[in-house]
Amino acid sequence: MNSSFTTFALYALGAGALTTSLVKLKSRVALSKGKHRSLSGHSRMARRIAAMVPYYEYVEERFFRVDGAPADVAVRREDGFRRLSRLYAKRYPKTVQLTDVVKDSISDLQFTDAYRVPFQFSRFVRTHLPAPAFVQASSGVTVTDLDGNSFYDLTGSYGVNLFGYDFYKQCIERGMEQVRELGPVLGPYHPVIADNVERLREISKLDEVSFHMSGTEAVMQAVRLARYHTRRTHLVRFCGAYHGWWGDVQSGVGNPVPARETYTLNDMSEDALRVLNNRRDIACVLINPVQALHPNADAPGDSSLIDSSRSAHFDKAAYVDWLARLRAVCSRRGIVLIFDEVFVGFRVAIGGAQEYFGVRADMVTYGKTLGGGLPVGVLCGHKDLMRRFHEDWPADICFARGTFNSHPYVMGAMHEFLCRLDSPEIRALYAELDDVWSRRAAQLNERLHAEGLPVQVANLSSIWTVCYTQPSRYNWMLQFYLRAEGLALSWVGTGRLIFSLNYTQTDFDVVAERFVAAARAMQQDGWWWADPATTNKSIRRLILREIIAQRLSSYRG
Ligand SMILES: Cc1ncc(COP(=O)(O)O)c(C=O)c1O
Repeated sequence: MNSSFTTFALYALGAGALTTSLVKLKSRVALSKGKHRSLSGHSRMARRIAAMVPYYEYVEERFFRVDGAPADVAVRREDGFRRLSRLYAKRYPKTVQLTDVVKDSISDLQFTDAYRVPFQFSRFVRTHLPAPAFVQASSGVTVTDLDGNSFYDLTGSYGVNLFGYDFYKQCIERGMEQVRELGPVLGPYHPVIADNVERLREISKLDEVSFHMSGTEAVMQAVRLARYHTRRTHLVRFCGAYHGWWGDVQSGVGNPVPARETYTLNDMSEDALRVLNNRRDIACVLINPVQALHPNADAPGDSSLIDSSRSAHFDKAAYVDWLARLRAVCSRRGIVLIFDEVFVGFRVAIGGAQEYFGVRADMVTYGKTLGGGLPVGVLCGHKDLMRRFHEDWPADICFARGTFNSHPYVMGAMHEFLCRLDSPEIRALYAELDDVWSRRAAQLNERLHAEGLPVQVANLSSIWTVCYTQPSRYNWMLQFYLRAEGLALSWVGTGRLIFSLNYTQTDFDVVAERFVAAARAMQQDGWWWADPATTNKSIRRLILREIIAQRLSSYRG
């Protein structure tokens, strides 16, 4: 009797352990399937591989023919390069000189400078085509450098510049007037904050608001609160999506420590929904709606433009469908759905991505343009998620403060921004927003195509990215030709062009003209010469061989 009971108990224990292991294994397999198959989807692996890539560079004579171009093409390229170099030296002397003075003392500048183009080309480019880091004035849709050169601004100031720089100058000036008497007093609020909060509640359709100093901080706070209220550990982000530079949202390369409580899943995939459906440790899902333009791809900087595989295509209906399904799973599983609208908020619609895609989030972060030209991060959320303490458990708090939160000057500029959103001129800009920008993109694409240039643009409203239609190692050179034509890009180069909505059709026509002229000059200088046998895959294989050879030579040496 006793022994059969023991046997039974052992069987039961064994069966229990087996079931638990199988459940864990199933969940592990589901998680693996929920990841994107690229390296960005496998952050640990990406970090390990990145750590194995050694530095090497193309010195002068290889620089112009890494793709095996014939000698005459290499000569054309070199002539073009030297011509640009002379033009830069002649046109931007003061701007470049001051850049040289500060370069070694501003770490940010050294970083952006080094990662403007693929690293193998970087040093040579920096030496001969220095990127001037200063501007002294802005007006309309242009900025002016220290030498008096005027550029059409395609940087959008990282997305802050939605309505034109003059608009923000006014927001700052009028905002300052409103709070001048108080000055920079922190702690107690300037009364202007009350109206800001009301307007933000109306825009976000959420109950409460908290103010922060940057988009990164707003995202941190959203995730922190989601963890606090759900009592779960993990956040889900989608492959390639940027949510600021805080560790937990940077799970791959770029973060010195692994983000252990982050799952990076495959965007717009059934497998990802399955993970959300099955796991019990997920506190929140972060969505950066700009990914609708290039799901699962990293922010498209030119430093990763090693071939022409960058691709982008915006399918609004597909993204609406995806968000609706995501919303349903999150609601069912008690997972907090956070829209990170730091970039797209106000840009795609006054009510942001929630309005544009017709899906409501539990929390929304804003930033950039909302500060009316001053630094800000804002979190809006449901009342029950925003609370930082429990009535019944006084020691159980979710701490978040910040010296400069709700700074009167920021609140003043934000107030101007929010009030002006209601003006007829600004409302009119939203009337045919997507049609206007998609028509302009199509117009430019037609011209590029008609001239036989291997360049096309893709857009999500006023957010554009440049794609290249034939395999090449030199696409990143386009940013230098664009500058020579008086078009200013941010340090990520042709990966992201951001237009402000005050671009008239006439302004845009000039930009299109210059864009085509830049691409034409680049083509004439031979950079897009291509061996018919070259493919994006063969380019990547070649680079891999170079990396391995470099590693081996460093072992030998
Ligand atoms: C979607 C998104 N979230 C967060 C951030 C971080 O904002 P900030 O640079 O103000 O910290 C950015 C910045 O580009 C962003 O685009």
